[in-house]
Amino acid sequence: MLKSGSWARPVAYWTAREKPGRRANRTAARETVDTGGTGAGLCSSVLQPLVMASEKPQDLMVTCTAPVNIAVIKYWGKRDEALILPINSSLSVTLHQDQLKTTTTAAISKDFTEDRIWLNGREEDVGQPRLQACLREIRRLARKRRSTGDGDALPLSLGYKVHVASVNNFPTAAGLASSAAGYACLAYTLARVYGVEGDLSEVARRGSGSACRSLYGGFVEWQMGEQADGKDSIARQIAPEWHWPQLRVLILVVSAEKKPTGSTVGMQTSVATSTLLKFRAESIVPERMKEMTRCIQEQDFQAFAQLTMKDSNQFHATCLDTFPPISYLNDTSRRIIQLVHRFNAHHGQTKVAYTFDAGPNAVIFTLEDTVAEFVAAVRHSFPPAANGDKFLKGLQVAPVLLSDELKTSLATEPSPGGVQYIIATQVGPGPQVLDDPHHHLLGPDGLPQRDL
Ligand code: DP6
Repeated sequence: MLKSGSWARPVAYWTAREKPGRRANRTAARETVDTGGTGAGLCSSVLQPLVMASEKPQDLMVTCTAPVNIAVIKYWGKRDEALILPINSSLSVTLHQDQLKTTTTAAISKDFTEDRIWLNGREEDVGQPRLQACLREIRRLARKRRSTGDGDALPLSLGYKVHVASVNNFPTAAGLASSAAGYACLAYTLARVYGVEGDLSEVARRGSGSACRSLYGGFVEWQMGEQADGKDSIARQIAPEWHWPQLRVLILVVSAEKKPTGSTVGMQTSVATSTLLKFRAESIVPERMKEMTRCIQEQDFQAFAQLTMKDSNQFHATCLDTFPPISYLNDTSRRIIQLVHRFNAHHGQTKVAYTFDAGPNAVIFTLEDTVAEFVAAVRHSFPPAANGDKFLKGLQVAPVLLSDELKTSLATEPSPGGVQYIIATQVGPGPQVLDDPHHHLLGPDGLPQRDL
């Protein structure tokens, strides 16, 4: 599963409550997974807020996008629930926004009477605590910036209310929830609206821990920090998105079902009951962070792949060590694990790695020259049910035939429909500002503007 989170999990985070009489049912602009990978819609990173189409100079509207990230050294467990401070550092790869992204528009105006938010076209409860924490934090930073006279003073009253609309370009129903992209995008967009500069880890983190890693492209570490106030618990890029051009990512969508245990509750139970988690956080992760950083810096795929798989397995072992145990993987997930190990054994080297978050969907890392053969192996083991032509989305992958030797090595009983579809993507950049007002999800009246 991609982020186990909540951005697309309104019940846990933003209670999905329609407000009668409002335009809550309007569906804001919703794109679907872009199969062409053209990057259309991503504009330059001009950091100037845009004047709203209403042309009232005191009103501001900004639209930004932010990426999904997938951890290769997992975050699991908090030492401070309110500040969202982790018990261990973590490290992730930012996925390309051509395939997976959140788009968010934020507007402030003296005409708005209350803060309001729409997620994938539905109005959500703006009082949700994590959302409130993000809003409070960004306004605090804006106030601080103004009082210290840092940069241009924002000509707008900080008392103005904000309207926010946010959409994902991947189907929420596919189970690819992304609290990370969602809260990173919220933090980044609000920062532009309120004229806040500098690191936004704290703002994004207060929405969802893993969201701070989506503030940067490429390869990103979230340093756990030591301070009680969390000021040193920040995300930092360790290598840019162009650092390892051959690296490819395949998302194997196994299930669209909502997971039984959300990551927030799951990690609370693990912290309370798992001795293995404590051992992992204190004695395993610090070394793994160093080793993973080295693997990435030196583009050592074999070591990167092995450590990625081991860390995923250890995370799921801590889930099993949790009491009562938590189980995120299903039979298809376990078949994918077996497929990867048999594929690697056939080649006599580690050519493919898997990682799983708090759900059964697999994220595969491999290199450009192995993508086509591995996709063919997935098709062989999980023949598409009815959607053969739509089985592969995202980056183009040339079809290849599997050798009989590889088929024999895989030795799997085909499991039709086990993998619903694959999204092929790569490492990508961090959040972007869209400088074309046509991308705004809110109209000049500050309400969601497009019915799709
Ligand atoms: C398994 O960031 O979703 O994906 O901080 O409670 O919102 P909260 O949790 P969240 O947890 C992600 C856990 C993970 C591993 C990871 O992304 O590092």
